[in-house]
Amino acid sequence: MNKLNCLIFISGNGSNLKNIIEKIDSGFLQNIFIHEVITDNPSAGGLKYADEKNITTKIIDDDYTYDDISQEIIKHNIDLIILAGFMKILPKDFVNDHEGKIINLHPSLLPRHRGLDTHKRVIQSGDKLHGASVHFVTEKLDEGPVFIQGIIEVRDSDTAFTLEKNVHQMEYQILPIAIRWFSEKLIEKNGEYYNFRGVLEKEPIKYL
Ligand code: GRF
Repeated sequence: MNKLNCLIFISGNGSNLKNIIEKIDSGFLQNIFIHEVITDNPSAGGLKYADEKNITTKIIDDDYTYDDISQEIIKHNIDLIILAGFMKILPKDFVNDHEGKIINLHPSLLPRHRGLDTHKRVIQSGDKLHGASVHFVTEKLDEGPVFIQGIIEVRDSDTAFTLEKNVHQMEYQILPIAIRWFSEKLIEKNGEYYNFRGVLEKEPIKYL
């Protein structure tokens, strides 16, 4: 079976990248190949996890643009582009050219709290539940179809900091499951439609 050829985009610590690499090593993601790790931030701490595994890293700048990435996606038959803590908004053309292949990890229970500072906004809004979502990336920010969510309870003692920590733990569970579903072809975009074979009925999966 051919491996799912992936690009992973990061901007910061890269703990989700580290977790994906661990899941490949443990065999949970045995059909995944990371072709390259790409960042907008030359000092992203997470780049070290790619370096340790001799995975090529690239930095988006004037010499390496989204057009260059697009050409690579075509040339190397990239199957999946994973935004794992990528904090920049992708150009519309790039999203449209690769729609159906780009997924994003977002630290909230979408459609609640699109955008930034989700943990702080959960505390301010008094929500009793919080979590993380993985969704297809479309032109509209954080609005593409969600196909897995992990839920945590918000306790009275929680702060934005503790929520961030707990949401991260949930992210380490749901993002690998999402990637595995792709490798098993349980999720795919087919023309205009998103197919969630055996995965989604009416509601996003709640992974508790
Ligand atoms: C994650 O919480 C992700 O949901 C958000 O940015 C964070 C990245 O964390 N978009 P890390 O860089 O993987 O540690």
